[in-house]
Amino acid sequence: MNIFTFKQEEDFIQTGASLIVSLIQGNPKAILGLATGSSPLGVYARLADMYTKGLVSFTEASSYNLDEYVGLPGEHPQSYNSFMKQHLFNHIDIDSTRTHIPNGHADDLQAECQSYDLMLEQNGPVDLQLLGIGSNGHIGFNEPDDNLSGGTHVVDLLEETIEANARFFTSLDEVPKQAITMGVGSIMKARQIVLLARGTDKAEAVKAALQGPITTECPASLLQCHPNVIVLLDEEAGRLLS
Ligand code: F6R
Repeated sequence: MNIFTFKQEEDFIQTGASLIVSLIQGNPKAILGLATGSSPLGVYARLADMYTKGLVSFTEASSYNLDEYVGLPGEHPQSYNSFMKQHLFNHIDIDSTRTHIPNGHADDLQAECQSYDLMLEQNGPVDLQLLGIGSNGHIGFNEPDDNLSGGTHVVDLLEETIEANARFFTSLDEVPKQAITMGVGSIMKARQIVLLARGTDKAEAVKAALQGPITTECPASLLQCHPNVIVLLDEEAGRLLS
């Protein structure tokens, strides 16, 4: 595991974006695993900027997102489908038929999970999986639990996750209580994983994930078993690391 802690936000963002751009330049057909949330926002803005400047093209690349809320139509402003369009897909030349996000509004959610796994199985593995981390140590929406699921599944979000997500909704009642998420098994199949964490709220989860025991109680700790993980932190998120 390679851990980098940045003093400057600019360096954090540029390093994250450069990892993706170098991958695409070397392999234009690369498969990206993408996350939503605040952690990758700067990286997505930088990718859009680099595309605008002609430094990278995503026309042959494809992407698979980690997760989506259950019950929100794709066009809902807080769906992860809308998030990805707003923050990345509308600003780069990726072919929309090659972007994939679980459909949290499907009539048959189990069938949706199975077909997402099948697509990953047939087209994968993901070349570079971008991850954020929840302050409870979740990755994707794999919440701390006695057991973790390998494949894509429907998950009941924990209270702390619902509360953390509430910042994007007008009231707590509107926040979806379930999500579809890729499982840890699918995440761990990626050739390379880039974990992004910023802010003091993440410091304990980062410490537990990177230097604590490997346990389902901190799903991100499983990343210690992956052979190719790069962790990008700001000083606040890395402040408890020894
Ligand atoms: C989002 C996702 C989540 C977030 C995590 C951190 O697609 O899978 O695991 O990465 O909740 O969220 P932020 O970045 O908003 O702190």
